[in-house]
Amino acid sequence: MHALIVFAHPDRASLTHALAARIAAGIVEADRTNTFEIADLSAEGFDPRFTAADISVHMEVATPPADVAREQARIDRADALVLVYPVYWWSMPGVLKGWIDRVFANGWAYAETSDGKLIKRLGHLPVHLVALAGADARTYARHGYFGAMKTQIDHGIFNYCGAPVATSELLMPSGATWDAQLERVQAIGRSLFGAAKAADAA
Ligand SMILES: Cc1cc2nc3c(=O)[nH]c(=O)nc-3n(C[C@H](O)[C@H](O)[C@H](O)COP(=O)(O)O)c2cc1C
Repeated sequence: MHALIVFAHPDRASLTHALAARIAAGIVEADRTNTFEIADLSAEGFDPRFTAADISVHMEVATPPADVAREQARIDRADALVLVYPVYWWSMPGVLKGWIDRVFANGWAYAETSDGKLIKRLGHLPVHLVALAGADARTYARHGYFGAMKTQIDHGIFNYCGAPVATSELLMPSGATWDAQLERVQAIGRSLFGAAKAADAA
């Protein structure tokens, strides 16, 4: 089984990067034949700007630009998709949002029938979300921010495309120790394909 881990943080020495590395470690720990690829959007210089070429894809009058097609092929090769990112303004960083805007394109991630019915194209792709917060649990609870993130990201993006969100974690500085949080995400890596099977069966 193969996982694509999409990582959106400009600093490879960050805690976010350590979380991505621990998920990868867990994936291989569970089964040595498992493989993973890390899409480090900042290091790879993915361009998150939605261009006229992307609009043409959206309007179904052009095929995806090469960089978008490459990312779609990466996802097509994966049995599970993992997104690891810091929370920026109660959502995902712009580079990751732009990756979704451009890569989860009309015609590939979803489509519409001539009578306006939505076709969800990513039902085969279990998704695991790991967001790292700067603010504490009280702030999230007081404003309902995690619920808002789940509505917008888990439901608004992935459910729209039919991709089952198998796990969705928000790690906070006020939660368990960082060692415990790192162990928790390694455990997500270990059970990634077990969880994927469960999501498939649901
Ligand atoms: C531009 C920016 C916006 C941020 N917005 C939020 C936010 O809305 N909520 C939050 O909990 N933390 C926010 N933070 C804090 C980051 O989530 C936190 O610094 C990061 O998760 C720490 O991870 P790292 O050690 O891997 O950098 C923000 C940080 C930056 C740089």
